Amino acid sequence: MNHPVSGVAQLRDEDTAKLAARLSAPSWVGHRQLLEWVDEIAARTRPARIHWCDGSQEEYDRLCEQMVAAGTMRKLNPARRPDSYLAWSDPSDVARVEDRTFICSESEDDAGPTNNWMAPAEMRATLGGLFDGCMAGRTMYVIPFSMGPLGSHIAHIGVELSDSPYVAASMRTMTRMGRAACEELGADGEFVPCVHSVGKPLAAGEKDVPWPCNPTKYIVHFPETREIWSYGSGYGGNALLGKKCFALRIASTMGRQAAEVDRKGWLAEHMLILGLTSPEGRKYHVAAAFPSACGKTNFSMLIPPKALGGWKVTTIGDDIAWIKPHADGRLYAINPEAGYFGVAPGTNDATNFNCMASLRENTVFTNVALTDDGDVWWEGMTKEPPAHLIDWQGKDWTPEDGKAGRKAAHPNARFTVAATQNPVIDADWDSVEGVPIDAFVFGGRRSTTVPLVTEARNWVEGVYMAATMGSETTAAQAGATGVVRRDPFAMLPFCGYHMGDYFAHWLRMGRELQAEGARLPAIFCVNWFRTDENGKFVWPGFGENMRVLKWMIDRIEGRAGGVEHLFGTTPRYEDMGWDGLRFPRSDFERITSIDTAAWEREFELHAELFDKLGERLPDDLREVKERLRERLAAMR
Ligand code: OXD
Ligand code: MN
Repeated sequence: MNHPVSGVAQLRDEDTAKLAARLSAPSWVGHRQLLEWVDEIAARTRPARIHWCDGSQEEYDRLCEQMVAAGTMRKLNPARRPDSYLAWSDPSDVARVEDRTFICSESEDDAGPTNNWMAPAEMRATLGGLFDGCMAGRTMYVIPFSMGPLGSHIAHIGVELSDSPYVAASMRTMTRMGRAACEELGADGEFVPCVHSVGKPLAAGEKDVPWPCNPTKYIVHFPETREIWSYGSGYGGNALLGKKCFALRIASTMGRQAAEVDRKGWLAEHMLILGLTSPEGRKYHVAAAFPSACGKTNFSMLIPPKALGGWKVTTIGDDIAWIKPHADGRLYAINPEAGYFGVAPGTNDATNFNCMASLRENTVFTNVALTDDGDVWWEGMTKEPPAHLIDWQGKDWTPEDGKAGRKAAHPNARFTVAATQNPVIDADWDSVEGVPIDAFVFGGRRSTTVPLVTEARNWVEGVYMAATMGSETTAAQAGATGVVRRDPFAMLPFCGYHMGDYFAHWLRMGRELQAEGARLPAIFCVNWFRTDENGKFVWPGFGENMRVLKWMIDRIEGRAGGVEHLFGTTPRYEDMGWDGLRFPRSDFERITSIDTAAWEREFELHAELFDKLGERLPDDLREVKERLRERLAAMR
C-alpha cells in the first residue's frame, strides 16, 4: 500500500489539473488514473453532477437532510433516538440477490459450479446497455474508501461511484471513507473500482420516487481486472460494494493470487473477530464464520455469565475478517469494515445488550417499523409490541396484524451504525497490525445432526469440517427460508472463485505455515441451533455461548478434557463449566449426540458437494471423507 502523499495536488501535471477542474475534483485528489476513470464512467452514465465525498460529518448531515427532503428517510424523534433515521426500501429491494450475482472470470471453470458465471465480453455488453445514461438527472458520488485501518499493510483501497445518497452516507459508516482514503491512495496507488447505479435515470422534470431501483438487477465481479459493477438495487450488500463484493468476493481472489508470489497468500473470510480476556488477564482472539443472520453480531458482542468468573468479550469485527500470516508465524486478522450492517429483528436487551446500546443514537435503520412517538420497533425488540405502529411498508399495524402473521419489520430489516458506538469495542479493533488468531470457529444453523461443539483433530480435518458445513437458509438472501444448503466456510455466496481452489488455498496455507514450524489456530465446529421435538432450541445460546468459548480456550491451553467422536473431540458434560446455569445432562447429551443414521445421510450430502466440485476438489478432503466414513461404519 502507498503511504500518504502530502499535497497531492502538487503532483498534478497540467493535463491532470485540467481534468480535475472539469470533474470538480477537490485539491486532495491527485490520482490521474482515478480522474480518468471517473471521467469515463461519467461520460457513460451521464449524471447531472459529480460530488466527491470527503467523509466529513457536515457532508453526512447534508446527505441525510437531502434524503429526508426526498422522502427516502425520515428523521427519528431526537428525544428518543438522537441523530437517527429510518429508511423504507422498495418492497422488491430488501435482500442480497444471489441469483443475480455473477463472477465473470475469463474461464467458467475458474468461477466454479457454486457461482453464477457469464463470459466477461457478454457481461460487458449487457452492462454497457444498462449503464448507458443510467445516472441521468442524478448526482454521481465519488466515494473513496479504505477496507481496513488506514495505513495497515493488510488494508486495501476502493473507490465506489454511486448515484445513491443512501449508499454514500452508509459507506461513511461502514468504511473509512473520504479524503483520508483518497490521500492514502496518493498519485498512483492501487484501488478496486466499483460502479453502482440504482438503475433509474430521471428525465428532465421527472419526480423521483423515495427508493429508486430497477427490477433488473446485476451484481457483477470481474476477478481478473478486480472490478465490481452493480445495477438495479440500493440495498445492503448489493449496493454497499465495500462489503460482500470487495471485502469477500474480490478480496478472496486477491488473497489466493498473493500465494502465487509468497506461497501462503492471505484469507478474506465471512468471519466475526472477537477478543477474549480471561479472569487472569490473558488475551485470546477468535475468528468465527457463520452464514448470514445466524447471530454473528450477537456472538461478537456477547456478555459472559458472571458466574464464569470474570471473562470479558470485546469486538474486533462482526462480519468479515482479512487474515494474513505474519513474520512470527501466526495469523493476524483485521476487520476491513468500520461499521455494522446488522439484522435488527430478534435483537433486544436480553439477546444483545451491547448492540442495543450501540443503536441508541447516530443510527440508520432500514425496513423496521415506526412507533407513534417517532422511534423504531421490530419483532423481538420488546416482549409486547406497541399498540400501534407504521410497518416497514408505511401501513398501519396493530398487534392483531402481528397475530395474523403480518410482520411490522421486514425479517431482513437492518441497522447501519459505526463500530465505535459499540460499548465493548476491542482496544485493538483499529490496529494496523491486526490481532493474532488463536482459534477458528465454524457454525451453521442446524436443527439436527451437528453437535454443540467439536474440535477438529488437525488442520486438514478442520478444513473438511468447514468445507462441508450446512445451514438452514434465512431472510438475508432472497428466496425460501429454512432449507438446508451446503454453505462451505459460510462463503457459498461470497467466494469469488472456484470453491475447490478455495479449499486448496486453505490447505496450502496450513501446510506452508506448518512447514515453517508455526502453531496454527485450532479449528472448532459449533451448532447453537439444535431443537427438541417441539421445535424449541435446546441450547440457551447468546451469553451462554461463552461456556463453549471457555472450553475452546481450555483446550488450547491443554487443560480441558473431551471425548473423541466421529470427526473430532467434544466435551463431556463434566468438561464444561455449569456455574450459574441449570442445564441438565440429558439436554447436553441430546445436543452433543451423534446419530449414525443422520450422519450417513450427511456424508451423502458431503459427497454430493464434492461431486459437484469435481476435479478441483483437493485429494486431501476426499481422503478425510473416506476415513470418516470408515469410522462411522465401525461405530455401527
Ligand atoms: C450480511 C449477510 O449482510 O451476510 O452480513 O447477508
Ligand atoms: Mn454477513
